[in-house]
Amino acid sequence: MKKIGILTSGGDSPGMNAAIRAAVRQGKALGLTVIGINSGYEGCLTGDLEELGVKDVSGIIEEGGTILRSKRAPKFKEKRERTKAIRNLNQAGIDGVVVIGGDGTLRGAQALNREGVPTVGIPATIDNDVYGTDMTIGVDTALNTVVQSLDRIRTTASALERTFIVEVMGRNSGYIALMGGLSGGAEVILIPEVEYNLDEVAEEIYQGYKRGKQHMIVVVAEGIYDEGSAAHYVGQHLKEQIGFEIRVTVLGHMQRGGNPSAFDRGIASRLGAEAVKRLSNGESGTMMGLQGNEIKSVDYSDVLSQEKEIDMELYELAKTLSQ
Ligand code: F6P
Repeated sequence: MKKIGILTSGGDSPGMNAAIRAAVRQGKALGLTVIGINSGYEGCLTGDLEELGVKDVSGIIEEGGTILRSKRAPKFKEKRERTKAIRNLNQAGIDGVVVIGGDGTLRGAQALNREGVPTVGIPATIDNDVYGTDMTIGVDTALNTVVQSLDRIRTTASALERTFIVEVMGRNSGYIALMGGLSGGAEVILIPEVEYNLDEVAEEIYQGYKRGKQHMIVVVAEGIYDEGSAAHYVGQHLKEQIGFEIRVTVLGHMQRGGNPSAFDRGIASRLGAEAVKRLSNGESGTMMGLQGNEIKSVDYSDVLSQEKEIDMELYELAKTLSQ
């Protein structure tokens, strides 16, 4: 392998740049030509490519977002479009691609790999919903943002003895809500993986105030409700039920922004470098995953056929500690 491509696709996550930097510099250390593919899979279709050297990735380890830009690429699900992309990659002499992103991105990488372009994946999404890796790049930073936000919300909630409903991202996964709620000391956590009853939540809030709590913070995963804002839905119901003063905060895309944490920079550097080493050694069709403190190679077929589960012990712990 002489020339490799790198792309980021789907929702960006803090630490993607650190992964790009590691992949480029590891590639150069191995004597490879490294090509940045701009705007994710779209760049394969339009041929938006640029060569990247060691200096081009200088000063980006601390930056959120992605210097290669990203895009959601529903078109790439069509074989016809992928065939065009493969033709462009072949014409550019690209022998293999490092693909950085979440679940959907890895599906694209699997398809490319099956159809003749070797790929190795790196899991990067704030949702932490990718099977085969304990952590995805970006989730630690997002959790820090959630926890800082909860700390700020708590002071105003206490001052006015209010209940706050705080909505966090995660798509269909409750990981951010669970870990953000646990680490941020939320009184109630609602996630899609666990059935909930809003009348019971109302009772919990009422009992909390009766025990002398000055505030109640309910962290709600966006995925518990698919017909609009989960937090507004919960807030409306609780307002009608308990009559307490309720405020709703939707943290939204600020969870995807900001400088990556030390943890995210560290795993991004390790996963990025390992992906390039393996790709250049002839490995493909795999994702680099963090398991314990080791980097393991996991087949796309395993990654994409299994669901990452929520740790119910942590959910129970968060409940016990919220008294
Ligand atoms: O997958 C990352 C994520 O931030 C999800 O948590 C969220 O549901 C989604 O992307 C938002 O997507 P978009 O940026 O396209 O609005």
